[in-house]
Amino acid sequence: MTPAELKALVRTVPDFPKSGIQFRDITTLVGHGEGFRASVDWLVERVADSGAQAIAGMEARGFIFGAASASALGLPFIPIRKPGKLPIATIGVDYALEYGADRLEMDPTSVAAGQQVAIVDDLLATGGTACAAAELLRKAGASVPVAAFVIDLPDLGGAKRLEATGVQVRSLMEFEGD
Ligand code: PRP
Ligand code: MG
Repeated sequence: MTPAELKALVRTVPDFPKSGIQFRDITTLVGHGEGFRASVDWLVERVADSGAQAIAGMEARGFIFGAASASALGLPFIPIRKPGKLPIATIGVDYALEYGADRLEMDPTSVAAGQQVAIVDDLLATGGTACAAAELLRKAGASVPVAAFVIDLPDLGGAKRLEATGVQVRSLMEFEGD
């Protein structure tokens, strides 16, 4: 499938979660078998190119694409969790989200010192989530050469923000101008 065909599978919901926001919903993309596979194939190619040794995905939507990509490559998957979910001593980073504030946590023993870890998530908006995930992975001893997203909203500047921390950014599709 072409990137344009995959883009057409993303549902746009106006005024969610608040007035004036066009919500880009991947439910319809992952609900299309061929579309889901083509999206994951695209992510897998970008991650494989980077030489990553593991893939990290952020709860919740990052688990969908991150876990599928890691499994396809036979690489370890590192779950980056919302707070209070892990049963062991965690490390965490607080961050600002497009609509509010949040925190990410992980098991520090899930990363080997110096390990190259790629980030995979569904969507890059302000970059707050991805920058926090990269910071967290570095705190655990990893380096983060690349982050791959299904959707980038370039108007919100996330790619620039993430690239400024030394992470290469790849995105399958962009939605601009709203
Ligand atoms: C959404 C999306 C990205 C993040 C992007 O996650 O899945 O992870 O926002 O926004 P940012 O670049 O401005 O940080 P969210 O935590 O809202 O929801 P989810 O739990 O469904 O993934
Ligand atoms: Mg998310």
